[in-house]
Amino acid sequence: MSRRWCRKLEVAILSFVGFTGFLFLLQNNDNGPVLKEVIDTSRTIPPIQDNPPNPPKAIAECRENVSVANISGFVGLPDHIKDFLRYKHCKEFPLLLDMPDKCGGPDKSYNVFLLLAIKSSPGNYERREIIRKTWGQERMYAGVQIRRIFLSGGVANPRDARKLNQLLKIEAEENGDILQWGFHDSFFNLTLKQVLFHSWMEARCPGVRFVFNGDDDVFANTDNIIHYLLDVPGAGDEHLFVGQLITNVGPIREKWSKYYVPEQVTTSKSYPPYCGGGGLLMSGYTLRTIYKESLGIELFPIDDVYLGMCLQKAGLAPSSHMGIRTVGVRVPSSRLESFDPCYYKELLLVHRFVPYEMLVMWRAIHQRNLICGKRIEVYQPF
Ligand SMILES: *[C@@H]1O[C@H](CO)[C@@H](O)[C@H](O)[C@H]1NC(C)=O
Ligand SMILES: *[C@@H]1O[C@H](CO)[C@@H](O)[C@H](O)[C@H]1NC(C)=O
Ligand SMILES: *[C@@H]1O[C@H](CO)[C@@H](O)[C@H](O)[C@H]1NC(C)=O
Repeated sequence: MSRRWCRKLEVAILSFVGFTGFLFLLQNNDNGPVLKEVIDTSRTIPPIQDNPPNPPKAIAECRENVSVANISGFVGLPDHIKDFLRYKHCKEFPLLLDMPDKCGGPDKSYNVFLLLAIKSSPGNYERREIIRKTWGQERMYAGVQIRRIFLSGGVANPRDARKLNQLLKIEAEENGDILQWGFHDSFFNLTLKQVLFHSWMEARCPGVRFVFNGDDDVFANTDNIIHYLLDVPGAGDEHLFVGQLITNVGPIREKWSKYYVPEQVTTSKSYPPYCGGGGLLMSGYTLRTIYKESLGIELFPIDDVYLGMCLQKAGLAPSSHMGIRTVGVRVPSSRLESFDPCYYKELLLVHRFVPYEMLVMWRAIHQRNLICGKRIEVYQPF
């Protein structure tokens, strides 16, 4: 092994040991003094802003709608759907972690060309770390500015909540890239997360040109995304909403499905055209339009379908981009099941990468001597 690799390995092991130690401290600490010490001795961490310019206004806790129990067939519904129906009228939640200067303030926010807004549950620490090191780096590329923010909710289980809230706080201090709202981060609350994000953008980053909106298990080739967006006319002031387009589908009525949406939630048999929520691109114009429409549309549990509903109401259409694959196979043939960087180099986004794959692939597509055109398998299956 070369010395450089040894050092990298050492750093990796040290970080891992450090983090494990930290978790251990959290585990063994009931009153907080040990944890406090750990934070206070980290002198490299810039202080978190204690008094944001607009302190979050107090938001009354939203009460459950008990009348939903009257809906016929309610008793037989799965718990998460009952929960959705009880709380779907709740659209305001306190912002527990804010990043008021993410875009340099509202007036300067037009300087941000691409904001990466990545939905991430509190526990997905490793995914966030890898994204920060790879495709989600905040950087200048091709002369334009890329910024990053993770969108998170809270954890229901109080024991985990305490630890994970501390984790997010530390990440926010270290990286300045966490938004956290005080609602339970669950699959059926993703639309709520989306709507709260649009409302945050109105206040903090109204001028951003383009937004990448996606999950934390996708691999987004941000180099290609920038090149693509630089060619889009209007610099964000015109409608743009692209991803993997899904049309002519409707609610899944099978109870076992993750996407099960019963008639008690919608009687409609069809969804408007929408883009798979794993990763999509929209202009600042479209982001703001969706926000305005969302004020008048009830929450719907599937977030990407909800965006389709907002677009439809605004008379705008989603469209497809060949470089975005959020569902289905992620490689064109089984022969390519190995990592072929040439394949990924051409794409904008691919769904379902585990963290280590992101690291390896990000390095691979940036190899200086990567020659594409002829199919060379640079990475053999392990
Ligand atoms: C619906 O539920 C509420 C509260 O549980 C109850 O007071 C009311 O009578 C019910 N209405 C109907 C139409 O069943
Ligand atoms: C509560 O649920 C009932 C039954 O679905 C509905 O008619 C009513 O509008 C809901 N109330 C609120 C505040 O959303
Ligand atoms: C959404 O979040 C609210 C607020 O934390 C919670 O009461 C509700 O149960 C959550 N809904 C789902 C479907 O998880």
